[in-house]
Amino acid sequence: MASAQQLIGLVKSHAEGDATRFYDLAIQLAAAEDQKGHKRLAEQLRTWAEAGQAPAKTLKAKPTPIVAPRGDMAGLLSANYPSTRISDLIISVHLEDELRHIVDETRMTEALEEKGLRPRRRLLLSGPPGTGKTMSASALAGELKFPVFTVLLHGLITKYMGETAQKLRMIFDAVRTTRGVYLFDEIDALAATRGSENDAGEARRILNSFLQFLDEDTGPSIIVATTNLPAILDRAILRRFDLVLPYELPHGDAIEKAMRRRLIGFDVSAVDWSQVSALADGLSTADVIAASEDAARRAVLAQSEKIETAAIEASLQRRRSLQDIGGNLDGERPAALHSKRSRPKQKL
Ligand SMILES: Nc1ncnc2c1ncn2[C@@H]1O[C@H](COP(=O)(O)OP(=O)(O)OP(=O)(O)O)[C@@H](O)[C@H]1O
Ligand SMILES: [Mg+2]
Repeated sequence: MASAQQLIGLVKSHAEGDATRFYDLAIQLAAAEDQKGHKRLAEQLRTWAEAGQAPAKTLKAKPTPIVAPRGDMAGLLSANYPSTRISDLIISVHLEDELRHIVDETRMTEALEEKGLRPRRRLLLSGPPGTGKTMSASALAGELKFPVFTVLLHGLITKYMGETAQKLRMIFDAVRTTRGVYLFDEIDALAATRGSENDAGEARRILNSFLQFLDEDTGPSIIVATTNLPAILDRAILRRFDLVLPYELPHGDAIEKAMRRRLIGFDVSAVDWSQVSALADGLSTADVIAASEDAARRAVLAQSEKIETAAIEASLQRRRSLQDIGGNLDGERPAALHSKRSRPKQKL
């Protein structure tokens, strides 16, 4: 339950008409209850806190400033304001808990800092393509109502290494001054430059300055890096992150859940999900969702609301053939680096 101080703060902020303080305290209470495992209570507190905030916002008519990178920054960062939520993700219970914890820690920064603690803000998400890494960055931002600033790595890595380091500095200045989720998507592009033949010394310096900026950063933003190739990230990189989250290919329940969600509005009562899941094994969540959309489109064209097992299987098969073509074009499929055998069973 809430502490006496929290209750007094809540009533006081209400009496003083301090809607922002009231909202912050209510959200902190929700986060604390969440941590104690009182999920329903936490959700109710959040819902009411947010419901109470809406009219206050309209009254003040003070829109959230939309920050759009300008000038040199425009080529380095792209901004968006996602409405994605953690509940939109189909991930293991463990990953979901970790993401919710990060959100709660950020919400309770003040309380943590009072005790000399800092919220964890540097995350590395690793795993095969199409498993929800980029989407998770959006979900963190959506929960916190932060913008996502995606770092455009191709704009960052130039042939002039000195320039790259300077650009990196500009990005980290923004991390410090403009609160948001900063997404370094497919960070392996940066790490891979290390061993490259063209001026490996300079490339090494860039990676080192990235790591140093990561080390030095104490700002209010969350930094999310993603990779498909965890094997090329060495310990020096890994230890700079507060949390490393492994994303997995879906199987069993996760496949069924992803497909059912995409097939809402269709009659799937006759689908044999265990057969479908077996056939979808090895495909990513993105693939499984795309296969559901394929089956749904075909049902619409056939003017039918009913989807049978065979139709889903055919869509999955089409998806798999596409993936195989992709694999042959790439030479080596990144997903192959994530051994299926070492995959822990996913709990949902
Ligand atoms: N775990 C998931 N839960 C729900 N939807 C997902 C999930 N994974 C993927 N998707 C769907 O697939 C799309 C692509 O996923 P996302 O971009 O997050 O994958 P990724 O892991 O970042 O892949 P990559 O390594 O190729 O960048 C998402 O926009 C979403 O529609
Ligand atoms: Mg991605």
